Amino acid sequence: MRLKLVAGNWKMHGSLAGNQALLTALVSQLEELNGMRCAVCVPFPYLAQAQASLTGTKLAWGAQNLSQYDKGAFTGEVSASMLLEFGCSYVIVGHSERRALFGETDAVVAVKFAAALAAGITPILCVGETLEERDAGRAESVIARQLDAVIAGSGMVGLAKSVIAYEPVWAIGTGKTASPEQAQAVHAFIRRKLATLDADIAAALIIQYGGSVKAANAAELFSQPDIDGGLIGGASLQVDEFMAICQAAQG
Ligand code: 13P
Repeated sequence: MRLKLVAGNWKMHGSLAGNQALLTALVSQLEELNGMRCAVCVPFPYLAQAQASLTGTKLAWGAQNLSQYDKGAFTGEVSASMLLEFGCSYVIVGHSERRALFGETDAVVAVKFAAALAAGITPILCVGETLEERDAGRAESVIARQLDAVIAGSGMVGLAKSVIAYEPVWAIGTGKTASPEQAQAVHAFIRRKLATLDADIAAALIIQYGGSVKAANAAELFSQPDIDGGLIGGASLQVDEFMAICQAAQG
């Protein structure tokens, strides 16, 4: 049985005071929940706050990006070992905003994925097609290409230590969620594809859905056989919305 994982991606939002209120509320309400896992991926400057507030609680934390380099003259970059010092369990890799806005290629994503694994941090690998790619019937081939780049670098053994997040670009921050059937079809495709390489690893892998998940649609999405939780943007900044999504993920 795969335990569902709900992870908040705060993106570039937050303030020390606002975060504290959010984290304190989440920690206390999560005490009531069982049979699921929960994490928040916060901006780099707030990792120390997350570590101080969440150590010893049910809420794990992580980052939204990392450098492909270990150390050196890379101004502005943050390495995997730095994230580890701040207790990160997870790091998002290859989010579509990083691919589209910051020029991250499949090759760079693959190196970042390997860097996270080498530090013992679980990468949450984002894959997903744009609307144009979907309309052209290319959704599956785009996702296969994104996965293949990472498998070429880290193998199925590496992929086994990760989480996949299917995030159709057209559903991110648009309020347009993929229907449960649309999402399930892609999740099943991902699992089928990976099963051709290693059936046991494919069966055990957590595949999250991301893109306009909210309290109102989480239960239906999470009831699909291949959807193992969600990567939540906007709704992860609101206690009630995020907790309702976590509740929907309880096994
Ligand atoms: P929204 O939930 O705001 O659509 O964002 C999804 C996302 O990009 C999570 O990584």
